[in-house]
Amino acid sequence: MGSVSGIKLDSVSRVFKGRGATVQALQQVSLDCPAGSFTALIGPSGCGKSTMLRLALGLDTADSGVVSISGMTPGDAAKAGITGVAFQDAALMPWRTVEDNIALPLDVLGRSRGEAGGKIAELIKLVGLSGFEKALPGELSGGMRQRVAIARSLVTNPQVLFLDEPFGALDQILRRQMNIELQRIWIASRATTLLVTHGIDEAVFLADRVVVMQSRPGRISRIIDVDLPRPRKPDIFTSPEFHALEDAVAEALDGH
Ligand SMILES: Nc1ncnc2c1ncn2[C@@H]1O[C@H](COP(=O)(O)OP(=O)(O)O)[C@@H](O)[C@H]1O
Ligand SMILES: [Mg+2]
Repeated sequence: MGSVSGIKLDSVSRVFKGRGATVQALQQVSLDCPAGSFTALIGPSGCGKSTMLRLALGLDTADSGVVSISGMTPGDAAKAGITGVAFQDAALMPWRTVEDNIALPLDVLGRSRGEAGGKIAELIKLVGLSGFEKALPGELSGGMRQRVAIARSLVTNPQVLFLDEPFGALDQILRRQMNIELQRIWIASRATTLLVTHGIDEAVFLADRVVVMQSRPGRISRIIDVDLPRPRKPDIFTSPEFHALEDAVAEALDGH
């Protein structure tokens, strides 16, 4: 784990001024995700989760406070390919094949696919899409498209991975399968991961820590440690320890 922080937010604030309304999307948010950790971020709609990710990806700038990624500015980290990201809608390019979609971040960074070695083939295998290398997104199921998005987020070997509700559009059964796969992928890659989710079960199953946020103003209200041993198996979903942690997160979300 070491002392280098994968993701560090120090008293970060972000205000959006609209025509009349002013929204305090984040108010003095501090969060330290050690290298190699898995953090889940949960909270009501509009509490600033995506804003936090956008700041960490260098897509937006804080009004005050500091965001650092592996000790770098978010913009530098993104340019160096240190960060990877997958959003809720897989956002694949419909005319690109599975392997060409996965290779997209390499093209954007101006890296050759040869340089990445067998990375693309390795990722296709990792996410269970062998045989679909030449398929187009329109030929895939929703779950398969999300797996392409996850593979794409990993193609630069990111040290830091941001996942914004990546399985939000999937049905419960598929979501469970993806949770189990994501744990396997994370154990293999050990990227510092920040997962935004609406699923309490998903958060507890995957994370070392569940960060609970509240809205208006967007802020962190509670951090719940999840000390369940890994790898976590599907039967853990029905264990008493699991239920107790789910209850703790639910209570924190309710503001207790
Ligand atoms: N670019 C923007 N311009 C104006 N308001 C924004 C913008 N981005 C986010 N907001 C507002 O900031 C708040 C937090 O949004 P967001 O981070 O998307 O929440 P979450 O991802 O937790 O649902 C919301 O009230 C949203 O309307
Ligand atoms: Mg969001």
